[in-house]
Amino acid sequence: MEAPGGPALTFRALHPTFGAECYGIDFSQPVPEETISDIRAAMARYGVLVFRRTQLDDAGHITFARQFGELDTSTVITMPWAKHRLAPHKELTDVGNIDNKGRLIPKHSMAFQGGRANGLFHVDCSFHARRAGYSILRAHQLPPKGTGGGTMFADTRTAYDDLEDLIKKDMDGYVLCHSSMHSKKIAAPDYTPFDIIKADEFSMIRQSEPVIKRLLQHASQDKYTFTVDWEDAGDLVIWDNTCVMHRACGGSFQGQYIRDMRRATVYDDSSSAWGLDALPRTVYWP
Ligand SMILES: [Fe+2]
Repeated sequence: MEAPGGPALTFRALHPTFGAECYGIDFSQPVPEETISDIRAAMARYGVLVFRRTQLDDAGHITFARQFGELDTSTVITMPWAKHRLAPHKELTDVGNIDNKGRLIPKHSMAFQGGRANGLFHVDCSFHARRAGYSILRAHQLPPKGTGGGTMFADTRTAYDDLEDLIKKDMDGYVLCHSSMHSKKIAAPDYTPFDIIKADEFSMIRQSEPVIKRLLQHASQDKYTFTVDWEDAGDLVIWDNTCVMHRACGGSFQGQYIRDMRRATVYDDSSSAWGLDALPRTVYWP
């Protein structure tokens, strides 16, 4: 792919239907808009792009991510007693396994157990009113090679295409409502012993649960997935939450070695980014 203002990008496919490693970008320089357009085009085709050894720091990561649109800052909740580890960068979500003092988060802690929900296939920020588009995840510090920590992706476009027409018709028009607490409860039931749903929502959840479970099982079959192994600090992966799911693979590094990962999240700017709230658009929150 030839970029008029920059170098040609080359790609190495990672799966028959989606995902590629992308080469040809010098991240030590501002990335030209023409190259950003080429990355967008490649994202539409691949859904997941892997960039090795970018050498980006936090500020460079944010500058690059901003070139794709408005960044989510709502995931970072700052409390007087719990400073954001990556402050002042509220555009970066901390998805590492260390606390503010650089210590490993203990396995028995709520923070660790809550994080186990990342091991379930999901799309980022699905519990927000506004949908996430691209997630841009960078490795700041990795555990030793061979101790796990990969990220698995599932091609939901192909999985949807392969569904029977009857199921597609059945699903048409459904809108999902997701609470992150629900995922935490599935992933770590002993640490999340409560529900946050109202009594009158029980019947809806009862009906939708088997449908969601069946669709997740379908889309997470081996034939729709591949795993990115993080190789070096500075590796960066972009995925489009509107066409792939992902999950953290875990591994023997957990509770033993630091895995410091930082994510910028670009809002989806399509007409369906706000779900039904876009029809008509109502004042939700700024
Ligand atoms: Fe995620």
